[in-house]
Amino acid sequence: MCGIVGFTGARAAAPVLLGGLERLEYRGYDSAGIAVLHGGAIRVEKVSGRIAKLREKTGDGALTPGSAGIGHTRWATHGAPTDLNAHPHLSNDGRFAVVHNGIIENYLELRRELIKDGYVFQSETDTETIVHLLEKYYDGDIKTAVMKTAARLEGSYALGIVCTDTPDALYVVREASPLILGVGVGENYFASDVTALVSHTKNVIYLEDGEFAKLTPDSIMVCDCAGRELKKPISRVTWSVEAAEKGGYEHFMLKEIMEQPAAVKAALAPRIHEGRVQLDGFELSADELRGVGKIIITACGSAYYAGCSGRYAIERLCRVPVQVELASELRYSDPMVDEHTLVLVISQSGETADTIAALKECKARGAKVIGIVNVVGSTIAKLADHVLYTFAGPEIAVATTKGYTTQLTVLYLFALYLAEKLGRIDADSYAALVKELQHLPRKIQQTIDMNWQLPKLASRYSSRSLFFIGRNTDYAVALEGALKMKEISYLHAESYAAGELKHGTIALIEENQPVIAVCCNEALMDKTLSNIVEVKARGAKVKIVSQADDVIFIPRAETVFSAALAVVPLQLLAYYAAKEKGCDIDKPKNLAKSVTVE
Ligand code: M6R
Repeated sequence: MCGIVGFTGARAAAPVLLGGLERLEYRGYDSAGIAVLHGGAIRVEKVSGRIAKLREKTGDGALTPGSAGIGHTRWATHGAPTDLNAHPHLSNDGRFAVVHNGIIENYLELRRELIKDGYVFQSETDTETIVHLLEKYYDGDIKTAVMKTAARLEGSYALGIVCTDTPDALYVVREASPLILGVGVGENYFASDVTALVSHTKNVIYLEDGEFAKLTPDSIMVCDCAGRELKKPISRVTWSVEAAEKGGYEHFMLKEIMEQPAAVKAALAPRIHEGRVQLDGFELSADELRGVGKIIITACGSAYYAGCSGRYAIERLCRVPVQVELASELRYSDPMVDEHTLVLVISQSGETADTIAALKECKARGAKVIGIVNVVGSTIAKLADHVLYTFAGPEIAVATTKGYTTQLTVLYLFALYLAEKLGRIDADSYAALVKELQHLPRKIQQTIDMNWQLPKLASRYSSRSLFFIGRNTDYAVALEGALKMKEISYLHAESYAAGELKHGTIALIEENQPVIAVCCNEALMDKTLSNIVEVKARGAKVKIVSQADDVIFIPRAETVFSAALAVVPLQLLAYYAAKEKGCDIDKPKNLAKSVTVE
């Protein structure tokens, strides 16, 4: 969703801002803009559409001189993606410009008040209220104006602000929306996402909710919402610049699919020592273990589907009931959660609004929350009682791939850890499964290598609607396979529990209907094969993803872990189908990488 960047230093700001915005493109956006301080004024340039257009308009930044400024990519919420609604927004007196990530929930009330006060609005956005509030509260002290403004806002925000009275300073403040300061030498930065910073500096400061900061080229001052100055630690980002680049691949998605063996290895390696699973200093006390009467997994989208697979692994190995809940539903369901519930919250970005809300709801009811998160320092990582990082590295393509398989990996590790702690697994099975888990990276690589026929298969689907079927763990994979296909190729794809087809959906099966059957669960193979026969009898053309019309093979693996292999050909199938259709694979229409609104 929206992205913000800011730069102050001795060199030209606009090229740095444009470069930063390009690094945030993957989050999804539909307009972009920059504001640069120069000669006692603020120059704003904004466009609807892509950053390439903004580059053209500003002569790659050369036409927008100045060495301090802010930039924004907007994913429209309040008002259409037009030039006027694009950020930055200017105050009526031209003194302030603001960029904003998040949503101001009480903006209508503020807007009415400001119009009454005589302020003139140029846009339909919630953000514009902020810049007029700044003007209203400004009496020469910017910090006070920002604090007073922030106190009036309800909702979520990460704000970047410049003011003509302080021509080399940037001001930021956050509430429920990520904001990271980049610490440079003779220059400083801010961004909503570290990927915009890593090419300049790996030294960062993570701002917390309610914190305010002033950045100049040589200083960073952070204070809390009461205005007290804080000493914030500087953290080191471990992601490399290359990790956030395509590295010769045509798309980030393909690169990230190919990175899965390494990513899964990175998630496993530090957690298996001498044949035992150890979880980053994580220990459940005897009391907590006794209290694990029920586990709830909550997440959105693919992370939810990872949870669906994880459920089978945990239930099978630990014999503890697991409920998998969509975060957007759980938050409003008055959930049956208490101090005896262990909650696993899964999120690649760690910033998904619904998932954060579900986490807070569970915590408020006394549950212990474990976050399974990729992005270090993200909101979910901070709110959870304990975090298990997935170590996938930066995931840029909107469609998650290595984010999902590393989530599965951590869930498998967790299942083994808990099964042993609860004494629900015998030593031999435990040892065999740990070994099997260590083979996953190699088997994912084999899955990629042995399925060179997928581009050709995908080309047959590019104009069809598709069904994905499977049972049990295979059904969980089918759900993720259909989502991948929908989101990047825009093909209509539905997934069904294979046994459910005959209860209604089979009516849709007709001559040549492509059906993708995930068939990796050996114990249920015969059952799924019966369902395949049923659809074939009605004219369907069936592709099978299986260990065993077209068969896509994966290496033989323990059923409990097979989702991490079976999903790979489905990711590739979706990728090649989208490529065949000429879709914008890394930035599918209407989607954002990190869904920070409800
Ligand atoms: O960052 P999160 O894991 O919390 O994101 C959750 C979903 O928005 C995400 O998985 C989404 O479904 C992906 N686009 C799927 O590829």
